[in-house]
Amino acid sequence: MADLRSNFVGIKSPNPFWLASAPPTDKAYNVIRAFEAGWGGVVWKTLGENPPVVNVNGPRYGAIWGADRRLLGLNNIELITDRDLYTNLREIKQVKRDWPDRAIVVSLMVPCEEESWKNILPLVEETEADGIELNFGCPHGMSERGMGSAVGQVPEYVEMVVRWCKQYTRMPVITKLTPNIADVRKPARAAHAGGTDAVSLINTINSITAVNIDTFAPEPTIDGKGTHGGYCGPAVKPIALNMVAEIARDAQTRGLPISGIGGVTTWRDAVEFMALGAGNVQVCTAAMTYGFHIVQEMITGLSNYMDEKGFASVDEIVGRAVPNVTDWQYLNLNYVTKAKINQDLCISCGRCHIACEDTSHQAITKEVDGKRMFMVMDDECVGCNLCVNVCPVDDCITMEPLPAGALDERTGERVPEHYANWTTHPNNPAAKVSEPAE
Ligand SMILES: Cc1cc2nc3c(=O)[nH]c(=O)nc-3n(C[C@H](O)[C@H](O)[C@H](O)COP(=O)(O)O)c2cc1C
Ligand code: SF4
Ligand code: SF4
Repeated sequence: MADLRSNFVGIKSPNPFWLASAPPTDKAYNVIRAFEAGWGGVVWKTLGENPPVVNVNGPRYGAIWGADRRLLGLNNIELITDRDLYTNLREIKQVKRDWPDRAIVVSLMVPCEEESWKNILPLVEETEADGIELNFGCPHGMSERGMGSAVGQVPEYVEMVVRWCKQYTRMPVITKLTPNIADVRKPARAAHAGGTDAVSLINTINSITAVNIDTFAPEPTIDGKGTHGGYCGPAVKPIALNMVAEIARDAQTRGLPISGIGGVTTWRDAVEFMALGAGNVQVCTAAMTYGFHIVQEMITGLSNYMDEKGFASVDEIVGRAVPNVTDWQYLNLNYVTKAKINQDLCISCGRCHIACEDTSHQAITKEVDGKRMFMVMDDECVGCNLCVNVCPVDDCITMEPLPAGALDERTGERVPEHYANWTTHPNNPAAKVSEPAE
């Protein structure tokens, strides 16, 4: 059986699945049950200075569901922990003592002042926790108080606070980044410059999930008013994956350890994050939706996958897809595909025809010889794969690459053997000598 043990910036855990800083890690009671269920580590719900913050007493979640009512996206207006700092510290110390083989990282958010950081770090160190995570991410509530994403959006502040932390503690520092920024590489580079041991991302995305069209207030609604909150869950995974990849392939941050967060629900999601450069993953919404025991499926799934692939350790997955992430201009313009419909699987719903007819390239029939039939016309198909994505039947439509030398009936030209990209294309006014894809 594959070895799932993880060593992330020197923090060891029996598997790479950690719970993210959030309600699942708010107190010893939760964390102990999470460890009993098999989680490799936790990032404790963000601690702040006393007196603790106060949460709303009404609904704090908004949601987006799929047609089967599966939770796709969750939005929250919760703040950092509303429990006493010293109660949390006592619990952390005890849990770490009782569970020495699990990772406990403490998330922190205090005012952006040197004294505040200098004061809290020894208190955390005393618990013998494995590391700290700097919460520069919360987009609501705390940001209006000059913390959370208000810090994470200013690379100079990020660098400054990381420096303080590296100066005042010997614990590994993980800097948690906000996605509410145009270019995530900038705060990542700043954290790196400040000496962070790792970055983690993403925190939640600023959002309003819905407006109640009877009361005309955003949801969740507190006494007739709503506010923007942080969005997470499966819906944010694509944004998170891209941001992880951006940092993993950036020349200035390449090699900086990354903890991947955002919509991880299955072992596959975890593998995707790791392939794009994450050394481990953190999970929040999936645990809140399905409970702590989902980690068992993650462990079994990852283990089976690694056995199948012959990977001896999780490190063999980390970063494997990074060389295959490139910029658009380096994509091979000589790669030609055509859609193909498997008539045995087709249920004749007509969705592919409508999509292609109305919004793509009028390349799918709806009738052949007077009979309802859906077939791709190769002389019109541009290979965009919209039909694949709207077809309700798995694998009914596939994209088939044309081999080099084959005739592309749409262009009337043969598929060239060689790779060619936009940088050398004759239509590109700035065309220059070909550069290899990175
Ligand atoms: C209710 C709730 C509270 C959260 N509180 C915190 C927090 O205190 N500190 C923090 O760093 N992130 C917090 N988060 C963000 C999560 O740690 C995580 O970054 C985010 O939810 C994305 O992961 P997911 O898609 O697996 O939920 C919170 C998320 C939720 C849903
Ligand atoms: S791949 Fe695009 S162009 Fe081709 S049939 Fe499908 S939708 Fe139409
Ligand atoms: S969408 Fe799929 S199932 Fe429906 S007609 Fe097209 S190929 Fe057939």
